[in-house]
Amino acid sequence: MSRGSEFVVVANRLPVDRTNGADGAPRWRRSPGGLVSAIAPVMRRRKGTWIGWTGAPDEELGPFEEDGMSLHPIAQSAREVELYYEGFSNATLWPLYHDVVAPPVYDRAMWDAYVRVNRRFAEAAAKVAAKGAIVWVQDYQLQLVPSMLRELRPDLRIGFFLHIPFPPVELFWQLPWRRRILEGLLGADLVGFQLPGAAANFVRLCRRLLDARYVKQDVFWDDRVVRARAFPISVDVGELNDLVGRSDVQERAQEIRADLGDATVLLGVDRLDYTKGITQRLQAFGELFEDGHLKPGQAVFVQIATPSRERVEQYQLLREDIEQQVGRINGEYGEIGFPVIHYLHSSYDRDELTALYLAADVMVVTPLRDGMNLVAKEYVACRKDLRGALVLSEFTGAAAELRRGGFMVNPYDIDGLKGTLLDALNAEPAEQARRMRSMRRRVIEHDVDRWAQSFLSELESPDRSRLAPAEPAAVTLEG
Ligand code: ADP
Ligand code: G6P
Repeated sequence: MSRGSEFVVVANRLPVDRTNGADGAPRWRRSPGGLVSAIAPVMRRRKGTWIGWTGAPDEELGPFEEDGMSLHPIAQSAREVELYYEGFSNATLWPLYHDVVAPPVYDRAMWDAYVRVNRRFAEAAAKVAAKGAIVWVQDYQLQLVPSMLRELRPDLRIGFFLHIPFPPVELFWQLPWRRRILEGLLGADLVGFQLPGAAANFVRLCRRLLDARYVKQDVFWDDRVVRARAFPISVDVGELNDLVGRSDVQERAQEIRADLGDATVLLGVDRLDYTKGITQRLQAFGELFEDGHLKPGQAVFVQIATPSRERVEQYQLLREDIEQQVGRINGEYGEIGFPVIHYLHSSYDRDELTALYLAADVMVVTPLRDGMNLVAKEYVACRKDLRGALVLSEFTGAAAELRRGGFMVNPYDIDGLKGTLLDALNAEPAEQARRMRSMRRRVIEHDVDRWAQSFLSELESPDRSRLAPAEPAAVTLEG
């Protein structure tokens, strides 16, 4: 019998999902989103096991190897996909944690499915992990796993990382199952967030809701110390460097530019998600034509929108809105041969995305709320040539690191957004280079390896629970 894995990642999704090739044969494709972009390179280097779902309902598969990773699939029935994944994860938690930019749904059947599927993930991790192994649980879909896993396997070191924002007390308070979620997270030894403010929200909630004692960002719970810390996630700079250095990628970037004529190219790359501020950026761009600041053929917007969560109502409404908006703007301002927006509802491989980053004069990242936003960092990592400008929303995690080089915007302020788009479009090469240099310094020094390394070394550092006072009342702080 195998001794189990020393390093286990548990995430709702596996890093690949199944599609059918043109010949109808099944094929694996990289799963969408920032979580996979960040964890996959770490996983390849650490040679652990990744527990997750294949993205299809009712699929029972045994463990397999793909792209240098050991994958351990977890099945979800069609009903569980509806209630746990589309429901509690993406119609309740996702909007609640993103500042309620869409109304969250509170539904007891969805909650029950969330508990059930979290338990399945915890049981799988308990089986796969070697004695004393590191288990790293990812993101909002699995917040109950840390405590469930600890009950089954108290010998493990359990880390949890939340890739999305963690809301302030006033918003989290809405959640009917608020205590259960906090207790779930407190099963971990280390709970990681993108920003210090999110870690502070968590600690404050532990105090207000559970009456937990804490010192700074260490919460005393169940005779243990649970550390809450910020670890801003990043991109695989080495991989992007290699892609940028490839002649076929450079040629493809030139081909894209040639296809777009002499126009200045603005680019948006997002999952089609209502948190990303896609309608706001397209509105601002359209108005620049209306006001006469731009002419067709002079500037063009390429908006890549990866299909996402397509059966969730808010996502269907968003798609309809955006497609109508693109049609209206092109209908109104485009000319034969010169559409003002190219809208592509599709997924692309890394080579094509890199070529697009290299072809873009202005990268437009305008989320209404985003835990980090890796697209912004990928763009910066690719622009070795020190050209191009980044327009970046103040409401992204990335803003904390890139504000000195980015053209910062409040995406709710359409006039402000229009002005900032013009500033970015008109920036002189020397200004572009100065800004890009400062952003690149940050991204190159703080890449995804450093992120994973700092999380895992904090997780592996000596168990300070033994140092904690037996009765921590004396160290309770007022927050
Ligand atoms: P989120 O995690 O909310 O999707 P991020 O910007 O943090 O947002 O991460 C998105 C990741 O998905 C990036 O690594 C980006 O390169 C990738 N991505 C986005 N759109 C596409 C697409 N159309 N095809 C392939 N990958 C994409
Ligand atoms: C974000 C979330 C991830 C999620 C990804 C794609 O990055 O933080 O947890 O996997 O979006 O979303 P999906 O619903 O397709 O898994």
